[in-house]
Amino acid sequence: MNPFKYGKIVSGAYFYDRKTELARIKSTLSGGNNLVLYAPRRYGKSSLVKKTLTELEKEGYNTVYLDFMSIYSKEVFIKNYSNAVVEKEKTSIEKFVKKLGKLIRGIVPSVSFDSSGNSQFSFSWIEGNDKEVTLEDVINLPEKLASSKNKWIIAFDEFQEITKLNGESFEKTLRSIIQHHKNVSYLFLGSRTHLLKDMFSNKSRAFYNSAMLMNLDVINRDDSILYLTKKFSKDKIKITKEVADYLLKRVNSIPYYIQFVAAEIWQQAINKNLVVQKKHVDLAIRTIIELKSDYYWELVTKQTNYRKKLLHALSCSDSGIFSKESIQKYDLGAISTTQKAIASFVEDGIVEKFNDKLLFADPLFKEFLIRNL
Ligand SMILES: Nc1ncnc2c1ncn2[C@@H]1O[C@H](COP(=O)(O)OP(=O)(O)O)[C@@H](O)[C@H]1O
Ligand SMILES: [Mg+2]
Repeated sequence: MNPFKYGKIVSGAYFYDRKTELARIKSTLSGGNNLVLYAPRRYGKSSLVKKTLTELEKEGYNTVYLDFMSIYSKEVFIKNYSNAVVEKEKTSIEKFVKKLGKLIRGIVPSVSFDSSGNSQFSFSWIEGNDKEVTLEDVINLPEKLASSKNKWIIAFDEFQEITKLNGESFEKTLRSIIQHHKNVSYLFLGSRTHLLKDMFSNKSRAFYNSAMLMNLDVINRDDSILYLTKKFSKDKIKITKEVADYLLKRVNSIPYYIQFVAAEIWQQAINKNLVVQKKHVDLAIRTIIELKSDYYWELVTKQTNYRKKLLHALSCSDSGIFSKESIQKYDLGAISTTQKAIASFVEDGIVEKFNDKLLFADPLFKEFLIRNL
């Protein structure tokens, strides 16, 4: 089995490091405060939060995880959120469902059975009832079930997506209700860092100043090197610290790409008694770019000619893009045009703005551009 895993959430033996971050998140939430955790995609937010919730469960908290990525309407929120909360109720679901009818107006709760015969909470809408009332009751549900001895912690993943539901009204409703919750702490996380930060630090927004902000950086370099060397050596593949460090540098230490490249190297090296060298790292990266090239080309083809030119310039010079030399060399024209195009790259998640530096969200896409544009 490949010891390196990439894609969605990782846990157990596939998860390493993040000890200080984990401790900080736990202490903030168990101290009764709300927290915002932000970082670009693929930095490991969801995995870290899932691990945090698992640990908090062991300490006696009820925890709920809800991903806003899959929520496209108020109704879906009501359904998914109430389901996630009800799942945590430890008493018999049949008994509990009766109680729910009183707690949530506008629905008729019932018990259904899934294909393997497990009982599940479901409900039907009461025709003509105001769904806004149902929404309010569902948001209040954890607080109603919680007590000072039975605290709840709720994590909303990709929380910035809430703004797509119905402008700012959902955001306002949620904020106005949860600010009264005494026995529930909230963790908001998301990848669209500028959107999320704006929600919590812009005075005119509903969630202004309602949570502590925490930025998640890439995984610590030494820990990554240790993890890589250990996992490879278990399968009798040797990799020196220097080569492991080279791998990290090639992918800007972004957790997802570390695992992706390592998984590819493992596949090429397993049962070959190989000592991994820099050329193997390069080969693995080339293979991955090859694998993803259809997708990369699609991404490029979608762009206007000016944006293609700018992508090329960015891939060659990153943040130096606004220098006189770059503007001339790549024929970029007015700075305002460049800025507008970059804003759209940020919006689309192609480029990340970090402390005024511009970085490609996907370091392999950058390499693809260098090779192909
Ligand atoms: N602590 C970790 N240990 C090992 N791999 C990790 C860790 N965090 C993230 N990863 C890698 O990054 C990938 C993306 O992680 P994920 O938690 O989905 O990130 P995010 O939610 O920030 O997009 C995982 O599939 C895994 O390959
Ligand atoms: Mg995630």
